[in-house]
Amino acid sequence: MSHPLGVYGPVVTPPGRKPPILFGDFAAPAVETLEGFRAIGGYETARAALKDRKPEEIIEIVKASGLRGRGGAGFPTGLKWSFVPKASPKPKYLVVNADESEPGTFKDRELISRSPHRLLEGVLLSAYAIGAHQAFIYIRGEFAFLVPGLERAVAEAQRAGLLGKNAAGSGYDVDVVVHLGAGAYICGEETALLDSLEGKRGNPRTKPPFPAVEGLYGCPTVVNNVETIQTVPFLVKNGAAWYRGWGTEKSPGTKIFSVSGMVNRPGNYEIEFGLPLSALLEEYAGGMRAGYRLKAVIPGGSSVPWLGADQLATPLDFESVQAAGSFIGSGGAIVIDDGVCAVDAGLNLTKFYRHESCGKCTPCREGGRWMEVILQRLEDGQGSRRDIADLKSIAGQILGRSLCALGDAAAMPVLSILEKFPDEFEHHVTTGKCVVNRRRTAVERARKGEPVLV
Ligand SMILES: Cc1cc2nc3c(=O)[nH]c(=O)nc-3n(C[C@H](O)[C@H](O)[C@H](O)COP(=O)(O)O)c2cc1C
Ligand code: SF4
Repeated sequence: MSHPLGVYGPVVTPPGRKPPILFGDFAAPAVETLEGFRAIGGYETARAALKDRKPEEIIEIVKASGLRGRGGAGFPTGLKWSFVPKASPKPKYLVVNADESEPGTFKDRELISRSPHRLLEGVLLSAYAIGAHQAFIYIRGEFAFLVPGLERAVAEAQRAGLLGKNAAGSGYDVDVVVHLGAGAYICGEETALLDSLEGKRGNPRTKPPFPAVEGLYGCPTVVNNVETIQTVPFLVKNGAAWYRGWGTEKSPGTKIFSVSGMVNRPGNYEIEFGLPLSALLEEYAGGMRAGYRLKAVIPGGSSVPWLGADQLATPLDFESVQAAGSFIGSGGAIVIDDGVCAVDAGLNLTKFYRHESCGKCTPCREGGRWMEVILQRLEDGQGSRRDIADLKSIAGQILGRSLCALGDAAAMPVLSILEKFPDEFEHHVTTGKCVVNRRRTAVERARKGEPVLV
């Protein structure tokens, strides 16, 4: 399936590294078509499992595999599925989160465009496991270009009797609807996504109740990321022990990292959990481009704390990255080079989170705005030491006090930059200039009699 923005390179596996699991599909010819997917045994796992296995058995395999959600929070997938009340008379729903809204993350779009039938096979297995007959794939508004291809795959699978009534001849019905959102970061948050899917403005709900118990239309609903669901067919086919052959004991399997920034080969890389950050950047992404030095890495999408250039030995698994002070998050590895000013980057990120705040709770709505005002002043070289203290205090008060994790997402990068690059903030205050000096501050421009555009 080709689309205007989807020019993807070959899958990179450096010598001595284990081959990928999900990206292994891409080596097969025309795997985006039903014919091509079937040629590599596609849908056979689902066909056999829906016939021969009980739903609980599938949940047990997923639990035993140690698979953790790839959307950001890393919640154990099998455990989440087991929270769905079996005895509930209400319909159950499966929702695939294809919002991919976290800046720096661009893996789900590659999975959907290159191997859409693997996702649908995952949907079939996951829906059966939790007792859902209706599944939705929620795609962000900006990804409208992915919809025709995915809908084509759904229609192909329906025509072949693999989806819909009596899916794959199992006697079990699974319908899939592809839903295009309007484009809002907050609609990636699972409860805001559900409100959006119900036709409302996408605002996060108070939790508990969690969606597994009370989700879409008040019914039990499992929300999972694309990468999570796309992993399921491999687990059911090969078993939990096989999957545990990749990664570490507590973070088994593989993770796709989207590497961006001034590296030689930006792109998506599926790596084994536990690989050092340096190996991702050097062996997979080809190292820094000539003329650029690495300053920091944001390992898990723009909302997580930064790792310094002295932390490249950090193994990329949930526990090690957390011990180093950050998170795996969504796997959006943003490489910050020495041409980037920490104050400027902090302002840029804060503008984004302030703009995307739904405004429902005070710490995020008001705090985000104040952080932006202060960072703008600092960036312009018009800030004071008091501003730095206030910024730290405001970010600290947003953290852990907001209704949803967008508040934390706004606060964490700011706190992390303040801690890692205090000299740059100090320099902006004492000299009115930027250390990196990529852009002249308003103070510098005013001194030279140039127009000050703020
Ligand atoms: C502001 C915000 C944005 C989010 N955006 C996404 C997203 O784009 N895609 C995603 O899968 N999860 C996103 N999440 C996480 C979801 O709320 C949810 O945890 C996830 O979809 C669950 O799937 P998983 O268990 O497979 O990770 C976001 C969370 C927050 C707070
Ligand atoms: S933290 Fe921000 S995005 Fe989340 S509910 Fe509060 S205002 Fe809305």
